[in-house]
Amino acid sequence: MTARSLLSLIFFNFSLIFFLRSTYVSAQNPVFACDVDSNKAVATLGFCNTTLSFAERAADLVKRLTLQEKITHIIDQTPALPRLGIPSYNWWSEALHGVSDVGHGTRFSSLVPTATSFPLPILTAASFNTSLFESIGQAMSTEARAMYNVGKAGLTFWSPTMNLLRDPRWGRTLETPGEDPYHIGKYASSYVSGLQQQDDEDRLKVAACCKHYTAYDVDNWKGVERLKFNAIVTKQDMEDTFQPAFKSCVTEGNVASVMCSYNQVNGTPTCADKDLLSGVIRDQWKLNGYIVSDCDSVDVLFTDQHYTKSPEEAAAVTINAGLDLDCGIFFANHTFNAIQTGLVKEAEIDRAVTQNFIVLMRLGFFDGNPRKQKYGSLGPKDVCAPAHQELAREAARQGIVLLKNDEKLLPLSAKSIKSVAVMGPQANVTHDMIGNYEGIPCSYITPLQGISEHVDTIYAKGCNHVLCAPENLQLDDAKKAAAQADITILIVGANRSVEEESRDRVSLLLPGQQSTLISEVANASKGPVILVIMSAGGFDISFAKSNDKISSILWIGYPGQHGGAALADVIFGSYNPSGRLPITWYPESFSEHISMTDMRMRPDPSTNYPGRTYRFYTGTPIYPFGYGLSYTTFKYRIVKSPRRISIPLKDGNQCRSKHCRSIGAAASYCNNLSFDVQIRVKNTGTRSGAESVLLYFTPPHVHNAPRKQLIGFEKIYLEPYEAKNVVFKVDVCKDLSIADEEGDRKLAFGKHVFQIGNLRKYVVLRPSIERKVSTDRKPVNY
Ligand SMILES: *[C@@H]1O[C@H](CO)[C@@H](O)[C@H](O)[C@H]1NC(C)=O
Ligand SMILES: *[C@@H]1O[C@H](CO)[C@@H](O)[C@H](O)[C@H]1NC(C)=O
Ligand SMILES: *[C@@H]1O[C@H](CO)[C@@H](O)[C@H](O)[C@H]1NC(C)=O
Ligand SMILES: *[C@@H]1O[C@H](CO)[C@@H](O)[C@H](O)[C@H]1NC(C)=O
Ligand SMILES: *[C@@H]1O[C@H](CO)[C@@H](O)[C@H](O)[C@H]1NC(C)=O
Ligand SMILES: *[C@@H]1O[C@H](CO)[C@@H](O)[C@H](O)[C@H]1NC(C)=O
Ligand SMILES: *[C@@H]1O[C@H](CO)[C@@H](O)[C@H](O)[C@H]1NC(C)=O
Repeated sequence: MTARSLLSLIFFNFSLIFFLRSTYVSAQNPVFACDVDSNKAVATLGFCNTTLSFAERAADLVKRLTLQEKITHIIDQTPALPRLGIPSYNWWSEALHGVSDVGHGTRFSSLVPTATSFPLPILTAASFNTSLFESIGQAMSTEARAMYNVGKAGLTFWSPTMNLLRDPRWGRTLETPGEDPYHIGKYASSYVSGLQQQDDEDRLKVAACCKHYTAYDVDNWKGVERLKFNAIVTKQDMEDTFQPAFKSCVTEGNVASVMCSYNQVNGTPTCADKDLLSGVIRDQWKLNGYIVSDCDSVDVLFTDQHYTKSPEEAAAVTINAGLDLDCGIFFANHTFNAIQTGLVKEAEIDRAVTQNFIVLMRLGFFDGNPRKQKYGSLGPKDVCAPAHQELAREAARQGIVLLKNDEKLLPLSAKSIKSVAVMGPQANVTHDMIGNYEGIPCSYITPLQGISEHVDTIYAKGCNHVLCAPENLQLDDAKKAAAQADITILIVGANRSVEEESRDRVSLLLPGQQSTLISEVANASKGPVILVIMSAGGFDISFAKSNDKISSILWIGYPGQHGGAALADVIFGSYNPSGRLPITWYPESFSEHISMTDMRMRPDPSTNYPGRTYRFYTGTPIYPFGYGLSYTTFKYRIVKSPRRISIPLKDGNQCRSKHCRSIGAAASYCNNLSFDVQIRVKNTGTRSGAESVLLYFTPPHVHNAPRKQLIGFEKIYLEPYEAKNVVFKVDVCKDLSIADEEGDRKLAFGKHVFQIGNLRKYVVLRPSIERKVSTDRKPVNY
């Protein structure tokens, strides 16, 4: 039993009393400062003066605080400052896929008992639809503001998780948008834009946070755990794998916060790394916001990692590195002494509190009653609004990936089927669909319930636990059901007992006896079998891929509150599947031979190390990144793309006279060097559907460059036989540059092969004195 269900049992008896109370006690109030209505004196305080800039207001506030008071504002649970009319504030709220009550800042109550629970990011990401990412962020910030207005939520949300999934065994796969740096960057920046709704004056609806910075994706693998893990990362992998999405989140998403992770990178805890924090996030990327630690990670680097000799040094090294807020109380305990002993200057504390206060000011926290402000009309009626719940179901539909569909078994026509056997440990799950960092969903629709809306079903669990130990197998009932029904739908996979925070996998096979269940049921079934995999990470399901009885395979991630309805929408064809895998599905040999702690992305043939993710992996995947079928067919044609790109070099540049294989990509000749790749996509089938068009390029073979890199994607909708053009703007230095061994961006000379679907087209990059990009009108396809 979870803590929450225990609590709800205890409180059940009191709920009537709460209900009666709530009929005459008006809604609860939000926390905010500068309440001019009830305290005229605050109106004269500079930090409450909305005609001043945020920086001026923050400076005024900081000036009024004692050192001790400042220190209480660099931890996440800040106490009130009654003499200035400032209430206490909890910085920690979460909205990974819906407003969540994980963290101290947000609570459900009789006033707002539930919130919309969207699919986990790994499934939403599979939609490859940036406007969907943004819409979800927007819906969620509406619910968050609505809850804030009645005192039930904070304004600072530590979401999204957007670490690159380097290894599919990572327990937190469900929280991530996948394995491609470009795609994750788009996911994060779109999601953040939706959440924050930043206006021209820098004001925020809620503040988002991109986490966990950086090179973090080991939780607990064969005894290696995240609190002590030292990730050894090359400069090259750092530059082209781990950093790009964080950069997009800050520079394109304008995120108001970045969270540093628990692990060390090359011997330094990320929260104590001045180059990574002040150097990169603050100075290079120009973060407009605060840097926060993962919860207790300052304590962790002292207590678990023994990185410093004293706790004061731990406080000092992180504050001096650029950390502004400690999730925990370590700073409250040790910062004062660190200042007294000269390890930190008070100016650094001023810097940190200023960053924190400015974010709260941008959120309107210091503008008086929020009910009188821009989002003031939002309230409980806006939480679980029908449009939000429909968006949650739509997101699941858009993400679901069709992996196999022999003989076009799917979509099923409900009319021509008498009965469907629905089975498997995940066939009728509720909470499993909303994964972790969850809230309390508005309601659930399980797969069984979704399917039962369309046809008569016979239900059998087949295995009464997702781990499916031999004693959990219930083969007889399952086989009997399969032998009776026209169609068998088997819903298997994982839940948080298999993959979650602090729980990495050690195998890529389905848990326990699940594959036995599948094979036996398939053998016994009267009709064809549809296999549905609920999971974040992929599985080695080669046995099912090659089993003729299993006609169709669907992957549904963790699909959120109404995931079962979305699955039925796909199975019965009211939605034509359009999701694409956001990660590589590897064979089991990957987990047998590769240590999860080996951070290297690039293959090493001398040791049979195959490399990681579609960008480097040299083995044969079970299903590749970007894979996903539709009920219709699409045909691509290249309408326009250049044949060669000339890099205009100035007199005296070495590469003009001698043979160069690559040239630094940061110089002035990069500016404004871009071209279009235009593609015509036609729906050649009889069903309408959406298609995510993915543009990859393969650079010339130099600097151990990726085999392939995604540089653009766009999702379009096409009626039968309809065609549309998709134009990708390619920024030569940004999109085509590669990281060299030192982590410096280079442009390689030579053939760059573009790939869209099964089309290939190459463009030659060469040095020249010309300034123009030459474009051919009649394309040549290769
Ligand atoms: C707010 O600041 C402006 C600009 O400095 C000033 O003119 C105004 O008097 C201030 N308002 C209050 C209430 O102090
Ligand atoms: C902070 O101080 C309190 C009170 O002395 C103590 O209970 C707590 O363990 C300390 N926590 C940390 C992280 O230092
Ligand atoms: C399926 O799950 C729902 C929700 O928990 C439950 O109400 C229903 O009884 C279950 N159905 C079966 C056949 O077990
Ligand atoms: C996973 O599912 C099993 C039943 O299959 C359930 O007992 C368990 O509580 C679930 N795990 C989590 C963490 O939700
Ligand atoms: C399939 O079922 C038949 C009986 O219906 C049995 O003889 C055979 O061994 C089964 N095959 C497998 C692979 O289980
Ligand atoms: C790039 O183009 C913009 C707008 O066309 C122009 O303002 C800018 O000066 C150009 N930069 C360079 C380095 O050519
Ligand atoms: C992308 O998502 C948005 C928001 O849900 C939706 O309106 C749009 O139709 C989707 N695009 C495609 C091509 O499916």
